[in-house]
Amino acid sequence: MNIIDGKLLSQTIKQEIAEEVKTLKANGGKIPHLAAVLVGSDPASKVYVRNKVQSCEEVGFESTLIRKDDSITEEELLEIIQELNEDEDVDGFIVQLPLPKHINEEKVTLAIDPRKDVDGFHPTNFGRMAQGMPSYLPATPFGIMQMLDRYNIDVEGKNCVVLGRSNIVGTPISILLSRKASPGNATVVLCHSRTKNIPEYTRQADIIVAAIGRANFVTADMVKEGAVVIDVGINRVEDASRKRGYRLAGDVDYENVAPKCKLITPVPGGVGPMTVTSLLMNTLKSCKKEVYQ
Ligand code: GUN
Repeated sequence: MNIIDGKLLSQTIKQEIAEEVKTLKANGGKIPHLAAVLVGSDPASKVYVRNKVQSCEEVGFESTLIRKDDSITEEELLEIIQELNEDEDVDGFIVQLPLPKHINEEKVTLAIDPRKDVDGFHPTNFGRMAQGMPSYLPATPFGIMQMLDRYNIDVEGKNCVVLGRSNIVGTPISILLSRKASPGNATVVLCHSRTKNIPEYTRQADIIVAAIGRANFVTADMVKEGAVVIDVGINRVEDASRKRGYRLAGDVDYENVAPKCKLITPVPGGVGPMTVTSLLMNTLKSCKKEVYQ
């Protein structure tokens, strides 16, 4: 069993991005600029956004953080989005989700100019991704594809099972794995809450991507010997022995599954750190006009 070290890989990629930013600066080019909008005080969202802004600093990007109270109206938020769409210095921006209940997330996602949608959530980018056109890939699937690529994991012709069909992880990763590309060309089964007998599928999988949001859902009996397991889950599990009262657990029963695996991602330190680097890579792509002219 070997670990896919997302923390280390994300640091390597950040160093590569920092080098590229240095070259851009030396040549008098534009410095990539990412903006983030954070509404309200959800503790997890605050941590994620802080991480994103800090990572921008690490690689030499410019960043702007716009913080708004829970009381912001949908119209006011849409105005901010419009301003960011029109701000020529901002290469890309994100609106951190979830948003307060009185704000329609779908409306917000649709209001973001696809050319600046570095989260890859806009249907235009999703559609372009599905058709193999240049697009911003959503952060988590992009991070997983980077891991598969950089660890030289053989994907072509393999049986992949994706657990979970969310718009931001399960569905896009199932599309990316089956695309005619490298990494890609896999045979993909997408399992979800209505799938009958999930273990029957996972036992045949060369690669499992678990993005179901249930702690320790994937148990050792569900995994074939020598499989590659990518664990996207970040679940809070009560743990009185911890100061915080909880610990983080993935969707995979790591302790018992890991010994059977060829490669596995830990939680934390696996997929999580890769999502921020994906966002940085998309912002750099936007700055260099690699997706849209
Ligand atoms: N909330 C959880 N993950 C994400 C993400 O990747 N982007 C945004 N904008 N919000 C999130």
